[in-house]
This record gives sequence, C-alpha cells and structure tokens, in this order.
Amino acid sequence: MDNKEKDDKYFGRGNQALDLEVTRAKGSYIYAANGKKYIDFLGGAGVGNLGWGVEEIEEAIRKKDRPAYVYPNFYYRGWSELAEVLAKLAPGKLQKSYRMTGGSEAVDAALEMATMYTGREKILSIEGSYHGNTMGALSIGATKKKKGFPKLLEGFEKLELPLNSEKLERVKKLLSTKEFAAVIMEPVIINLGVVVPEKEFMAGLNKICKDTGTLLIMDEAITGFGRTGKMFASEHFDIEPDILGMAKAITAGHAGMGAVITTSEIDRQLSGKIGLYSSYGWHPVAVDASLAALHYLEKNQKRLFENIEQLAETFKNGISEVNFRKEPEVRIKGAAIGVEVYDEDYASNIKQKALEKGLLINTEGSSLLFLPNFQMPQKTALEGLNLLKSCT
Ligand SMILES: Cc1ncc(COP(=O)(O)O)c(C=O)c1O
Repeated sequence: MDNKEKDDKYFGRGNQALDLEVTRAKGSYIYAANGKKYIDFLGGAGVGNLGWGVEEIEEAIRKKDRPAYVYPNFYYRGWSELAEVLAKLAPGKLQKSYRMTGGSEAVDAALEMATMYTGREKILSIEGSYHGNTMGALSIGATKKKKGFPKLLEGFEKLELPLNSEKLERVKKLLSTKEFAAVIMEPVIINLGVVVPEKEFMAGLNKICKDTGTLLIMDEAITGFGRTGKMFASEHFDIEPDILGMAKAITAGHAGMGAVITTSEIDRQLSGKIGLYSSYGWHPVAVDASLAALHYLEKNQKRLFENIEQLAETFKNGISEVNFRKEPEVRIKGAAIGVEVYDEDYASNIKQKALEKGLLINTEGSSLLFLPNFQMPQKTALEGLNLLKSCT
C-alpha cells in the first residue's frame, strides 16, 4: 500500500489534501517525496513566521535536561519563564497566561473566562470569521458553516463587514443591553483574506466595550508574533484587549502550543472558579521550542520587521504585475497578504496551478492568501511572484 492509499484508508481529513507529500522543510522551501522543491508562500497557514527549521530553535529542542512531562498542578520553571516573556511581549496590561495546546482551545478558554467574569452569556463576533474547530470557536465563526451541525452553542450575534465607524451604532445598541460577555475578533482578519478594520471602528469598539463592561477579546492565533508588522496586531489600533489568544507562531512551528493571556485583575476574579486544566498544555518540549522561538524573534526583531516591510512592498509591486481576470483588491498588512479575485473557483484554480509550478499559496474563499515567513529573501519572493504570473 503506498502512502496515499494508506492515508485514504486510515487518516481522517475534513477536506481534500493538496497533492504534496512533505519530506523536509527548510527556510522558505518545502521539499516533497516526488523530488520537487516548492517556494512556500503558505507558511503553514501562519505557523511558520521565521521560516522552517531555524537552527537555534532546533538546538534548544535537542537540549536533554528537561522532564518528560510536568503535571499541571506542579511548579515548573519553564512555565513561569514563558509566561513572563508573553507578558512582556503582549500589549497593554495583559499579564497572566494560561497554558493551552492550540488556538481553538485558546478561543474556548477565552469565552469561558469572559462569561464567568461578567456573569453574562452572549458573545459578539464577526460574520464569516474563523476561530477554530471546538464548539465555542465554531459558534462564533461563520454562520454558514453551521449548516451541517444540528446544534451549536447559543447566544452568539454576528457583525457583518465592513468594520467602519457606521457599524458602531449597531455595536452600541447590542452592547448597551449589558447582556454581552465579550466581543471577539481577529484585530486584522486574516481568515477573511486580510481585512483591516477602520481605526475609528476599533477605537469606538474599545470605548463601547469599556463603557458597558463588555470584555474585548483579540484572537491573535495567526496575527500574533509579528505577522502584521507589529508584535501583536492589536497594536495597530487604539484598543486595550482584556483577553488575548495566541497559538501557531508561538513556537514557530516546532511544537504544538497555545496561550490565553489576561489582566491580573480578571485573573484574580477567576481564580479558584475557573478550571482550565490542560494535560498537554505547555509540554516541556513545546516550552523550550517557544522560549527559543520568541527569543530569536525578539533578538532579530529589527532585521525581521524591516524585511517584513520590504516583503510587503515586493508583494504589492509583484501582484500589480500579475494579469488577473479582473483587477483584484489587494490587502496587505505586514507579511499578511490577501488578494481578492472575486471568484472562489478561480482562486482555487490559481492555487492548483501554482502547486504544479512549484509555488504554495493558500485561499480564503475568493481571496488568495500569502503568509510568507519574515526571513524570506526578496529574491525568493520575486521568484514566487514570477511563478504566480503564469497561474492566472
Ligand atoms: C484566528 C484563529 N483562531 C483560532 C484558530 C485555531 O487554531 P488551532 O488550529 O491551533 O486550533 C485559527 C487557526 O487557523 C485561527 O486562524
């Protein structure tokens, strides 16, 4: 039985895989069993912010002197060290981190925290968004995705795009009821093809939340750790999140991990009431990977963020030279690049052709999505953009 047959027989997939069997990943390239090498504009959907196989991080993981496992109700130096790093990197007064295994779990924990803290049941989120696959994450996500489910959680209201100052009227009307525990969103909505809310909307949303005692939750699973050109995308706006979810690039792809960070005030109120036990949250191997990845990110921040700015420019220019069927809408925030091509099938065809030519890209509905790593040489970006020209 070859690998594809075995996968087909035993491996559960919610959707169709791309025709690519990975054997190795290094820097900006993915290597496949068919001997081909692919330029990676997909970046593991936002996991690979530093490029693949960064030696310093791999070295830290190879380190031997760590326990095989730490039971959650023990103390562990790696946990307090990582929590301290996250508190330093996170915006505003966010200080107390909870251990999670990934982004979906972080979202559900954030919802749990907000409902318990406020004693309210309703949640406001963005229509069409994606926050993961747990029941809470699905419930705040795209309403249309609910169709296959007999029942999801209740009490969820959705805001439609665009997120501009006119939308604040509706936000005010909903939140003034004081029935909402929280508003949750990605600060830059990468999962809708890099939608950047208006600054006035975000500032207004922040104010209405504070005035009505509604918590503001930012899901930074993809946007966190530099993706949009700031350490956290929340920093682009005049907002003060009460809870923030992290995942994906928290280990730069070297191990599974997530985190929820909140203020010490909220944490104090929840203490002793909320049970966020996680058997594998912040496993010692993942902690070493994360500490090394975040250390690398901090140490090289200037160089990496400068390269992000250049990449943004290179992508903007490169995309303008691609001959799409119709003039696309290009949305770029740092190293998050969305290209609206107005047709889902057309977007999928481009993705398929790109794969055949040796370029990996993603799609979100009718948008192409590029999430290059922050160390991608401009030359590699140009090579990839050149390949894209022959795919439209
Ligand atoms: C914004 C956002 N939240 C949550 C998740 C879920 O994260 P995970 O796949 O680690 O559960 C994702 C994953 O794509 C995401 O993009």
